[in-house]
Amino acid sequence: MATNMLFIFLIPLLTTSGLQIKEKKKDIHPQFVPAQEKLKWISKNSVIPSQLIPAGRENIAGLNTILYVAKAMHQDQWVPGEAGFDEKNGIFYFHLVHNGTEFSMEHFVLLLQPAGTTSWQKMNGSITHAHPVFGGADPDTGEANFICRSAVDTGNNGTMLLVGRAVPSSGKCHLFHGKEYILSSFELLVVNAYGLARNA
Ligand SMILES: *[C@@H]1O[C@H](CO)[C@@H](O)[C@H](O)[C@H]1NC(C)=O
Ligand SMILES: *[C@@H]1O[C@H](CO)[C@@H](O)[C@H](O)[C@H]1NC(C)=O
Ligand SMILES: *[C@@H]1O[C@H](CO)[C@@H](O)[C@H](O)[C@H]1NC(C)=O
Repeated sequence: MATNMLFIFLIPLLTTSGLQIKEKKKDIHPQFVPAQEKLKWISKNSVIPSQLIPAGRENIAGLNTILYVAKAMHQDQWVPGEAGFDEKNGIFYFHLVHNGTEFSMEHFVLLLQPAGTTSWQKMNGSITHAHPVFGGADPDTGEANFICRSAVDTGNNGTMLLVGRAVPSSGKCHLFHGKEYILSSFELLVVNAYGLARNA
């Protein structure tokens, strides 16, 4: 019933843009909508780093890069990952992890969030917050995915604060730097009480 109604609602959108309809269809998960209204996902071409809230940092070939929350279309699905800003070339880059492999994307969107709207909450083995930031879905199962981060000791290249996707059914955070890290202890990006109040 609810699914049918959503489908009817989406039909007029079909006429506008193929990409847009894809986004709407895959991003439905209606239970997450109210808490997310103040959050915007902006194309990498329409945003500069000073508009964004840093989420992490990584070291690539000796260069320290600030990471931001982002998502990209992968196998017809929005999948959350991390965007870094390459200061030398003045451009954002993006990667996500799926099934142990890193995918780099040309086209992606970054999370634009009013100050005070979100915060990082510690999780250990399960997702226990009512309003995680919804970032997309698992490409294999379609399960909703949230945004997570954790400090990761990558060995020779040092400790980095990586940003990835949290999978509710496993309670784990998937991160990538050189290889995939699947962690039970991580921070989850959530819409906080102030952010919710602003949505009222
Ligand atoms: C790790 O650091 C080495 C030396 O700087 C570099 O060659 C290599 O690309 C780095 N690996 C990753 C995954 O950043
Ligand atoms: C995931 O990767 C493994 C090993 O690389 C492979 O055997 C498997 O088919 C992959 N699964 C999917 C769903 O792509
Ligand atoms: C997470 O939970 C496990 C198992 O209950 C526990 O051993 C571990 O100390 C916890 N870690 C943190 C960081 O709280």
